[in-house]
Amino acid sequence: MDMPNRRPDAVPASEITPEAVYRQRREFMRQGLAAGLGLVAGVPPLARARELPAGGYPSRDFSAGEAPTDWEDATRYNNFYEFGTGKDEPAKKARRLKTDPWSVSIEGACEKPGILALEDLLRPHPLEERIYRLRCVEGWSMVIPWLGFPLGDLLRRFRPTSQAKYVVFETLHDPEQMPGQRWPVLQWPYTEGLRIDEAMHPLTLIAVGMYGRQLPKQNGAPLRLVVPWKYGFKSIKSIVRIRFQERQPVTSWMRAAPREYGFYANVNPTVDHPRWSQRKERRIGEFFKRDTLMFNGYADQVAGLYRGMDLRKHF
Ligand code: MTE
Repeated sequence: MDMPNRRPDAVPASEITPEAVYRQRREFMRQGLAAGLGLVAGVPPLARARELPAGGYPSRDFSAGEAPTDWEDATRYNNFYEFGTGKDEPAKKARRLKTDPWSVSIEGACEKPGILALEDLLRPHPLEERIYRLRCVEGWSMVIPWLGFPLGDLLRRFRPTSQAKYVVFETLHDPEQMPGQRWPVLQWPYTEGLRIDEAMHPLTLIAVGMYGRQLPKQNGAPLRLVVPWKYGFKSIKSIVRIRFQERQPVTSWMRAAPREYGFYANVNPTVDHPRWSQRKERRIGEFFKRDTLMFNGYADQVAGLYRGMDLRKHF
């Protein structure tokens, strides 16, 4: 993302995370803790060490057989402004983030709001691997094998009411752990939103892992959104709050630059960013640019969501 007040930021060597650290597979859903805690009001019980259940996930390729981006690129070239605006900063600084314990608050227009420990939030949902293209608004793209489950399955558990026209997501706000939040490059916490039908669409994923491993912190641990037909900035990382509401939210990027970043942010090669074309993209790891596809190549599945809408106006 390109912001006018970009901040130069030196990285002390002491903050460089050794590769072994983010390769380490931490424990994701401890047996025993999983037993029937269900929804809790107030502060959730402390979550302990977590483990991704052992491999063998069903895998589906939504990238038309493309080779996944190298792990090194996917985990060292990141946008996560909470850790700085440089692409290499999240990998170096995100280890400060404490992802265990973690809880998520579900609020607003639903019958069963609550604050859930991460384990309780995830427990009912079997994980699957989905290989998706991710197209960043800046003009680069990757192919990532995510581990996750459909967001809609999660949302339905909280029984959204008829007033739930939109779903709003927020990232953790804690400048102690997220030093980038000390600078007003965006209004914190990072906020994103989807229309309820977009949120319920079967392609919309909650990801807790990638490449068969637990999600690295710089990629949004312990849980993030993945909306493959939208520009990458919709795929909000390290979520702590999910709210159902009637009015369309103003997201962090809309607030920062309303003429440049719209609410919908569907990948669309025919609508330029005011400062650059969106016709082509550079797949990380490749030399030549390739054509950007309408809805990032997922038009067959999602174009119907926008039938009758002027996508120049609703960019
Ligand atoms: N989520 C938060 N909280 N903060 C961010 O700065 N950047 C977004 C998105 N989610 C961002 C975020 C952008 S611009 C992109 S392109 C993707 O994360 C990048 O995800 P990746 O680093 O896993 O490739």
